[in-house]
Amino acid sequence: MKNIYSKIYSFNKKILIKTVNWLKRGNLAGLPTETVYGLAANAYSRNAVKKIFRLKKRTLKNPLIVHYFSFERAKKDVIFNNSFFKLYKKFCPGPITFVLKKNKISKITSLTTANLKTVAIRFPSHKVTRSILKNLNFPLAMPSANVSSKLSPVNAIEVSENFKKKLKLIIDGGNSKVGIESTVVDLSGKPKILRPGVLSPLDIKKVLRVSFSKKNSKIKAPGMMKKHYSPGIPIFFCKKPKNSKHAYIVFGKKYKNISNYFNLSKKADLKEAAANLYKTMRKIKKKGYKKIFVSKIPNNGPGIAINDRLIRASK
Ligand code: TXA
Ligand code: MG
Repeated sequence: MKNIYSKIYSFNKKILIKTVNWLKRGNLAGLPTETVYGLAANAYSRNAVKKIFRLKKRTLKNPLIVHYFSFERAKKDVIFNNSFFKLYKKFCPGPITFVLKKNKISKITSLTTANLKTVAIRFPSHKVTRSILKNLNFPLAMPSANVSSKLSPVNAIEVSENFKKKLKLIIDGGNSKVGIESTVVDLSGKPKILRPGVLSPLDIKKVLRVSFSKKNSKIKAPGMMKKHYSPGIPIFFCKKPKNSKHAYIVFGKKYKNISNYFNLSKKADLKEAAANLYKTMRKIKKKGYKKIFVSKIPNNGPGIAINDRLIRASK
């Protein structure tokens, strides 16, 4: 049988060197992060970044997040401020992205930032991607490794299924522990949360005065499109299915083990539920269900991000 899938590598010293050289030559790589898997390329190279947009079928109007090993490496690319340092100290490396003003001397290609005057930067905590970033002399533009508007992948096999042979190198870093995309905070003006994540608005508010409104998310981030994170089948929110032909995503102890029930967290842990969200939606799709119903999920902590993704997926 012909192998139609991309190559998945286990991580070791030899593969580290191979990946670093591969990225230096302007190629794309599928890399693990603690949130979701990313599709990485040299953020300073227009040609390399162009390949990301093409492979993802992403509109050029939607800017990419630039990933660094540490803030020292981002000095020339963005203008830092106090709010940034407060959040960086508390949460980095980790599942949070900062939108900052772009530095005039920055080498980040305008393609990465969709011509905006700001840049979104992130410091992922996953060991594999950190050691790759450490060995590069440029940062990595890295959106989630899925075709635009589809579900983000949380393991190497899902990345390979998304792009087949068109992506030649994927590093296996196990399952992404967080399971949903990073929290995006805009610090280029008055601090504002653009995309909720497992770090909830309350977590951020403990460090910084910051606003969060579902409405303002659509203005600032071009990528905050309504239809997003879609498993490819209709989702009905806060509704119970009428029969067992439809899948039912539930949360908490009170639900029994029924074949069409998919419990995000039996022990009602919202962090665990976030980690299971995309995995569960994929499983349901693979099993051949044509509709997904979702029970009510508490709208606090990581639950805010879960509801955000479910609402967008149901559009
Ligand atoms: O967890 C994550 O953030 C993952 C991993 C791979 O790091 N990445 C990710 O990237 O989710 P992506 O491209 O799927 O989502 C990035 C979001 C988009 O909604 C984009 O519009 C927004 O960040 N964004 C990027 N640059 C921006 C900017 N300068 N201003 C406002 N929003 C920006
Ligand atoms: Mg994405």
